[in-house]
Amino acid sequence: MSIATDTDQAPATPRRATHRTILMCRPDFFTVSYRINPWMHPEDPTDTSRAVAQWQTLYDTYVGLGFDVELIDPIEGLPDMVYSANGGFVLDGKAYGASFTYPERQPEGPAYMKWFGDHGFEVAVPEQINEGEGDFLLVGDVILAGTGFRSDSTSHQELAKVFGREVVTLNLVNPSFYHLDTAIAVLDPEPVDGHSNIAYLESAFDEESLATLRSRFPDAILVSEEDAAILGLNSYSDGYNVVIASRAKGFEQQLRDRGYNPIGVDLSELLLGGGGVKCCTLELRR
Ligand code: ARG
Repeated sequence: MSIATDTDQAPATPRRATHRTILMCRPDFFTVSYRINPWMHPEDPTDTSRAVAQWQTLYDTYVGLGFDVELIDPIEGLPDMVYSANGGFVLDGKAYGASFTYPERQPEGPAYMKWFGDHGFEVAVPEQINEGEGDFLLVGDVILAGTGFRSDSTSHQELAKVFGREVVTLNLVNPSFYHLDTAIAVLDPEPVDGHSNIAYLESAFDEESLATLRSRFPDAILVSEEDAAILGLNSYSDGYNVVIASRAKGFEQQLRDRGYNPIGVDLSELLLGGGGVKCCTLELRR
């Protein structure tokens, strides 16, 4: 007689796709004309039409998954505006605006705030430097908040006040993973059996933050350096379908093993600006 143990017969966790509403920005004016992260090389050429074509595939993928995709008009001279995740942080119908670290991106803050105001969101104008959902990730009831390269830790207190939620500060230590969404992927936008899981890159955090992540997410997917190095973690999940960088093969398998459905897209041109799938995606929670 053989007895099934939970190691050899673990029932797959039932995954459930949830409906998402997001904001994107077509990269009509995308290029790399300045360097504010290690991925950017202004001396190298970029191909804007290729960026638009790759972005269109991402857009079509989201529409195919049944998401509502809203669009903000791109502005000439703001090449990074395609990374809409940085435009703010939106929850409970309220949008906490972004206040960018580098002057090159600062005009994006008011542009996104205007969009939020025009589309029925209550806008909280920020006093502290922060780069929106690039550094703030809602996981269950808690907001994980990154600092070290972009968002100032004082914005974490401001964020907690605006939304009345617990905000957990995480310190980023590797300049290649300068935004929290390059080092953590939220896998369950809605809790499954009371818990939302994440995937992350251990080496992107200091010891204290790692201890926090380990105790809060004992079951997290730990992603390899190799997959993280092509911004594989910069992905977007509806709870079942996870849109990821097509080259992140190890992460793809890890997701499959946990019952998710990874969908690879190639955003190599937008990687030249230091962004991937998630950077081009801002969650709108009304
Ligand atoms: N070039 C942009 C910057 O450095 C890329 C932003 C990527 N966005 C993100 N959410 N990680 O600001």
